[in-house]
Amino acid sequence: MSSHARIGIVTVSDRASRGEYEDRGGPAISGYLNEVLSSAWEPVARVISDERTLIETTLRELAADGCCLIITTGGTGPAPRDVTPEATEAVCDRMMPGFGELMRKVSLEKVATAILSRQTAGILGGSLIVNLPGQPKAIGECLDAVFPAIPYCIDLVGGPFIETNADRIIAFRPKKN
Ligand code: MTE
Repeated sequence: MSSHARIGIVTVSDRASRGEYEDRGGPAISGYLNEVLSSAWEPVARVISDERTLIETTLRELAADGCCLIITTGGTGPAPRDVTPEATEAVCDRMMPGFGELMRKVSLEKVATAILSRQTAGILGGSLIVNLPGQPKAIGECLDAVFPAIPYCIDLVGGPFIETNADRIIAFRPKKN
């Protein structure tokens, strides 16, 4: 049984939010989800500045709006304006540190600067929030690593049954006995 999933896509970038450059991260996440998901879904996209309170408000709004998954891109580094992980921790009921650990591990195999990302993940009510770095090419690299665990995680927090294209991502769900 499948049901319609709302998925929040949040680009956190001062410059993209001011229109100084085109947001490439949000469309990259949308493109990735179109490729990987075989069940129905709809994006709820936002482009916002690197303001901690605005990030927190946006995450809370998307969760309240029924998004079972919220993917952020940007603001995970060590610069003073990078506050996406702090905002994520502030709104989450509990953290899912394995997501950040695995994404950094696979990213380190590609770029030495992967160690600079403080990306994390957590649960807010019935939503799983996952941070990605701002580099558009990081999006597929990171999501390929953690996506197999996302549908079951969403099951466990009471969300819709999400299905993936098996030629792209095989979702892990334990067998029922
Ligand atoms: N992870 C992957 N997979 N690919 C990348 O290109 N860029 C790194 C890192 N993680 C990168 C990556 C760089 S250069 C930085 S500074 C940090 O993510 C933080 O990026 P952010 O502040 O845009 O979130």
